[in-house]
Amino acid sequence: MNVASAPRPGDPVESIDTPALVVDLDAMERNLQAMAEFARSHGVRLRPHAKMHKSATIARLQIAAGAAGVCVQKTSEAEALAAAGIDDIYISNEVIDAAKLARVAALAAKIRLAIAVDSVEGVERLAAAVAAAGSVIDVFVEVDVGHGRCGAPAAAAGQLAQRVVSHAPPEGGLRFAGVQAYHGAAQHLRGGEEREAASQHAASLARAAQASIGAAGIACPLVTGAGTGTFGFDVASGVWGELQAGSYLFMDRDYADNAAAPGAPRFEHALFVKSRVMSRGAAHAVVDAGHKSHALDSGPPRVWQRELAYANGGDEHGILRLHADASRASLPALGETVWLVPGHCDPTVNLHDRYVVVRGGLAGGVVAAVWPIEARGCVS
Ligand SMILES: Cc1ncc(COP(=O)(O)O)c(C=O)c1O
Repeated sequence: MNVASAPRPGDPVESIDTPALVVDLDAMERNLQAMAEFARSHGVRLRPHAKMHKSATIARLQIAAGAAGVCVQKTSEAEALAAAGIDDIYISNEVIDAAKLARVAALAAKIRLAIAVDSVEGVERLAAAVAAAGSVIDVFVEVDVGHGRCGAPAAAAGQLAQRVVSHAPPEGGLRFAGVQAYHGAAQHLRGGEEREAASQHAASLARAAQASIGAAGIACPLVTGAGTGTFGFDVASGVWGELQAGSYLFMDRDYADNAAAPGAPRFEHALFVKSRVMSRGAAHAVVDAGHKSHALDSGPPRVWQRELAYANGGDEHGILRLHADASRASLPALGETVWLVPGHCDPTVNLHDRYVVVRGGLAGGVVAAVWPIEARGCVS
């Protein structure tokens, strides 16, 4: 870890070395409260996805604001957050490897843990692992609700739930918890109407899964899912009882490009990469943040409050040019600070060891804290 340039609480924002991953704490807190209030007022639980922030400090803030716990996507993420004190975690993903399942089962002996399954073999492997460890785990049957990624067909949900229930305590260690229904591909559909249609399609498949489980004589306690792009529509359907949205907290450029959904809160950008101009040409400026500082899978970062476009200049460089229609703007000078709004927050966070957390705004604020990103690099 880079310790030489670590900022200290009270340092002015201007002194933060670049490139740095910076959280605007005031904006993040407003996003956190807005989502918590949305869930409360709509009578649904919130279990935000911590794959996005990978931070125990942020998970604790979300739980203090009413979240039921957090989701993660990977076993190692669950281990890292549990080691940092988070004790209610849902791995919203399938785990098949025996050695990894042994780790899942061991973790389930220490904290309240849940996991998703989408195959009979997956259920049997999980059941064997928890039996060997003598632990108990909550199990969601994942149904493919439109992405075409993981998830069983809705009609198979009842059969899978039966398998889970056949390993119920006290003889087994699997507690059937409900249906995992997340439509990843729907989240970034730009138009509100197409996102709403995708959400309604997902809702109809989740209802079909509930019916299949009911026909098997099993009660379905919960449907969990939803992301930042669809949660407003998902809640309107009445199907989901728990929301897993994650990105709302930081609000990356890609999500901000979505048309707003009626009734859903508007979230602010709260995650930035602070960069600095290191070179100037006649018609361009070069900043010290390339794609080792922010992910480009969802497109380039937005240059915050400047009429500048960012182009990838390689691992350590970003090239700034004036917008074609820029009116009175000029290129930034050598040494000037430029704030970037990452295209995609999750993989951007995974590039950094720490958040530099700022209170009082990016212009004149101060460093309030430095938070470790405990699950950074936990991709297995
Ligand atoms: C299963 C699952 N649930 C919830 C989310 C959260 O979505 P978002 O960060 O887009 O709000 C994701 C993100 O990829 C996910 O994979």
